[in-house]
Amino acid sequence: MPEGVSTKTISKATISLYHLCIENRQEHSPEGEIPDQNNSKNAHFVTYHAQMRITPTDSLSCASSSSFPLNSQNHDGLIFHHHHQTLLLLPIAYTPNSIRSIFSISNRRRRRRRRGEECDGRWIHIRKLPSRFNLDLLGRCSDYPIYKNFCPYISNHGLGPKTHNRSHSWYRTDPHMLELIFHRRILEYPCLTADPTRADAIYLPYYAGIDSLRFLYGPDVNSSAEHGLDLHHFLRSDAPQIWSRNNGHDHFLVMARASWDFSQPLSWDPPVWGTSFLELPEFYNVTALTLESRAWPWQEQALPYPTSFHPANLARLQSWLERARRARRTKLMMFAGGGGVSSSPNIRHSIRTECANATGVCEVVDCSKGVCEHDPIRYMRPMLRASFCLQPPGDTPTRRATFDGIVAGCIPVFFEEMSAKSQFGWHMAEDEYKEFSVFIAKEEVVMKGVRISEVLMGIPAAEVRRMRERVLDLVPRVTYRRHDSSVGMRSTKDAFDVAVEGTIRRIKERLDGHLQQLI
Ligand SMILES: *[C@@H]1O[C@H](CO)[C@@H](O)[C@H](O)[C@H]1NC(C)=O
Ligand SMILES: *[C@@H]1O[C@H](CO)[C@@H](O)[C@H](O)[C@H]1NC(C)=O
Ligand SMILES: *[C@@H]1O[C@H](CO)[C@@H](O)[C@H](O)[C@H]1NC(C)=O
Ligand SMILES: *[C@@H]1O[C@H](CO)[C@@H](O)[C@H](O)[C@H]1NC(C)=O
Repeated sequence: MPEGVSTKTISKATISLYHLCIENRQEHSPEGEIPDQNNSKNAHFVTYHAQMRITPTDSLSCASSSSFPLNSQNHDGLIFHHHHQTLLLLPIAYTPNSIRSIFSISNRRRRRRRRGEECDGRWIHIRKLPSRFNLDLLGRCSDYPIYKNFCPYISNHGLGPKTHNRSHSWYRTDPHMLELIFHRRILEYPCLTADPTRADAIYLPYYAGIDSLRFLYGPDVNSSAEHGLDLHHFLRSDAPQIWSRNNGHDHFLVMARASWDFSQPLSWDPPVWGTSFLELPEFYNVTALTLESRAWPWQEQALPYPTSFHPANLARLQSWLERARRARRTKLMMFAGGGGVSSSPNIRHSIRTECANATGVCEVVDCSKGVCEHDPIRYMRPMLRASFCLQPPGDTPTRRATFDGIVAGCIPVFFEEMSAKSQFGWHMAEDEYKEFSVFIAKEEVVMKGVRISEVLMGIPAAEVRRMRERVLDLVPRVTYRRHDSSVGMRSTKDAFDVAVEGTIRRIKERLDGHLQQLI
């Protein structure tokens, strides 16, 4: 169990539910009021956390730290797993007394004033959405023909189960759960506001990628042009002024798949592949954070794929980095992935052929049929043993392994610009790629017979060491630290923090741009 989290087993819930209770916090806890045990909402909360008396009934639908008035960092969620047992994760058990002492009024005033300045220009409002746009989708985690089901990967707020019982920082993370991870993390964001008119950005907690499964693999495959219409209808009918204030230009959401999965032309129905969410004019003004973006639309920005590494304090981050720094790298290069087995010429095929003939310098971890997907141990050890990690494009240009390799201090070798350089600009500056990566155009390898190992062997050892240091420097900002991390850990920017900063900057540019046009 993560520190500060208690568990309790109850027996009679029937649905997998990720409860993110963020509603009502202002309404029920007017400023200056200490949570009151006689006030029903707050009393509920206090009882809940202090005594862990929980019944799996309606009271779940909003029993949470949401009614906490004074500290936006204390919102938390719950996870329930069904089957006969239900697992419930709760945040720290606050007692009524500790609530009182933490939130004495004078402290709070000071904190609020400081927060006001720190938060200038970066307030975020979380749009309240009906549960059909997030929680309910998780309840159908076993309905789709993909890796049996994704129910296990919902746990730990989307980080997935730990790799083994005594692991602190390693999880079986599915990158498509970034929508949950992001949602959980934004609840800790220090500059949340309940007032949309004060917000610099509006976050839509819609699990777009998970909702797309019914179009990609499910019963709605022939209605792909409808993905998003329900959400749009809701935004235009429920509190429509929140949208219309800036015509949606200040809205953003996470879509934890490649844009390709959401960008079928509207007229292609049934589609070749994917939904048309990003093609809907209704969403043209919204910033979409994806795992892979197309080259042109300004609305799209790729975020690093979540890896399996989610440290919760600086000591764990540092000790891992130290391990990666000291690792004995006996192989020049490695490739973890599938494909390239058929004889048609492509970069993966060339890599396999070269490695088959050079086992002394190259290691291949065969990840065909998705065997590596939730099993980081399979590839992390080989990545620690190699100086360079080959990151060829596959079905799409980007891959999660790019970030796994970086975590291992393994220098990435890219074969096309779309694999990273033109994608992850917020997290890895485009003009610094030479310092932490190698580029070999795939045509050189496939068509002209350039041998990757020869190129890499030509790089002087001192240069390799320097590059490795630069790779390790990137680790904090391209990984997602665990929610509820230590204070020290929160002071280093991680992939989430960088993403939020980038989003707010992008939205500000959009809004300023429009003002310019009006003037
Ligand atoms: C790990 O934890 C699970 C569930 O708590 C338990 O069933 C299992 O025996 C544990 N394994 C080890 C090696 O301790
Ligand atoms: C979708 O359309 C195709 C061709 O029009 C049809 O063969 C298929 O059965 C349809 N699928 C569903 C789930 O309706
Ligand atoms: C997008 O913004 C433009 C103006 O910038 C506006 O005319 C248009 O109606 C907006 N689209 C939607 C769906 O709100
Ligand atoms: C395999 O290695 C041998 C000796 O180094 C070399 O002559 C041969 O061309 C290589 N074959 C391929 C397919 O790379």
